[in-house]
Amino acid sequence: ASLVAGLALTSILLTACGENSPSILDPAGPIARSESNVFWIILIIAAVVFVGVEGVLIYSTIRFRERPDSPTPPQIHGNTTVELIWTIIPAVVLLAVLSVTIKGIFDVATPPANSNKTIEVTAYGHQWWWEFYYPEYKMTTADTLVIPPHTNVHVKLYSNNVIHSFWVPALTGKTDVIPGHDNEKWFSADTADKTYVGICAEYCGTQHANMRFDVKVTHDNNDFLSWAQLQQQAAAVPAPGSLEAKGQEVFKNQCTTCHGIVGVSQSTPYLQDPNPAGRCDDPTKDNGCLIGPNLTHFGSRHLIAGGVLDYNQQDCNPGGDLSNCNLAKWISDPQKVKPGNDMSVNVDKSDLPALVAYLESLK
Ligand code: CUA
Repeated sequence: ASLVAGLALTSILLTACGENSPSILDPAGPIARSESNVFWIILIIAAVVFVGVEGVLIYSTIRFRERPDSPTPPQIHGNTTVELIWTIIPAVVLLAVLSVTIKGIFDVATPPANSNKTIEVTAYGHQWWWEFYYPEYKMTTADTLVIPPHTNVHVKLYSNNVIHSFWVPALTGKTDVIPGHDNEKWFSADTADKTYVGICAEYCGTQHANMRFDVKVTHDNNDFLSWAQLQQQAAAVPAPGSLEAKGQEVFKNQCTTCHGIVGVSQSTPYLQDPNPAGRCDDPTKDNGCLIGPNLTHFGSRHLIAGGVLDYNQQDCNPGGDLSNCNLAKWISDPQKVKPGNDMSVNVDKSDLPALVAYLESLK
């Protein structure tokens, strides 16, 4: 029975390893592998203990059950040998678990050993989306963290609102993002051209479940650098008189209170000079910072509103039908798509195609 239960549990755990479902059992980097090893070692130890204890219990229940002619068994008071055995064995088991865990703690707190290269990233938890700032490149993006493969990523974690938790199951375990307490972590991906799901793992408000992000691993370092070069540039300038130019006017009139676009409503790719603690570190408010994501290269992203929607650009033809366009859905009624979020706009229906066209042009 215990074997059947064990197999059933294992099969439940393994069903989590589907193609698109994030799983700690499918690690894609050294940090996640170390964490997954701790899981497997403890699971195996626990399975051996479980099978052993349940086996003896079931055997004894059957072998020593009461029968009509059973004599009264001998009555025992204390047995030093047995008591030593059941103290020493659990102590040894716990020491084994402890040593594996402590090794794991040191593994995840230090740069992974598969590369000498490092990139710095500051991740800001907002309600409810993730912003990523690259201090070496002076660029900022949202919803998707782009990294090169085989490179140590050093992430500093900031929040100025509530506690979030940064988790990329295939790459790294959870680390809380706490206002006033700066955490940091390391991870690294050893597969190229892959995208991994990231999750906020600490309840942070009504849209906690919709605070997702992607970690996109580029083909190689050059691929990452060309993406970075693009992100550092000012926004594309629409041709005068075009639909995009009209959209830019709509943006300037309706969106700049919360969103920045470099070259349009702000001069640098980030919103203020990052101080040593990172930017937007006033614990009480978005001090000097805009509350919404920077949209300078929005058209190069593939998620909208903290991963609530895919940015399906193929369905967003501004000249034609926008009924399946998620960007249009989001802009026309953000409270319907993600109730409780900070975005409240009142874009006139007739302005929607222009705004969609403009945002789409921001590659
Ligand atoms: Cu942020 Cu949950």
